[in-house]
Amino acid sequence: MIICVCKAVSDSKLRGAVRDGRAVSLRDLTRELGLGTCCGKCVPAARTALMLALNEADQGAGVNAATVLSRPQAGQSASGAAL
Ligand code: FES
Repeated sequence: MIICVCKAVSDSKLRGAVRDGRAVSLRDLTRELGLGTCCGKCVPAARTALMLALNEADQGAGVNAATVLSRPQAGQSASGAAL
């Protein structure tokens, strides 16, 4: 299934980036795959797909989706409040 139409990023590409350790965040997916860099409409679906992929990878790799979600993003405090 295509997640990002603009950059032709499929869910299997996204899962591959997570599985290879190249992506643990949306920022990583943007950098590695270009996902979300055009119209941005794919971001909500990408976030869901990322969480699913991280949960799959977490089965044995030690990457925890909750840990990733709790990491502050640029412009956010640790509590998630906008700076
Ligand atoms: S669908 Fe992903 S940037 Fe447009």
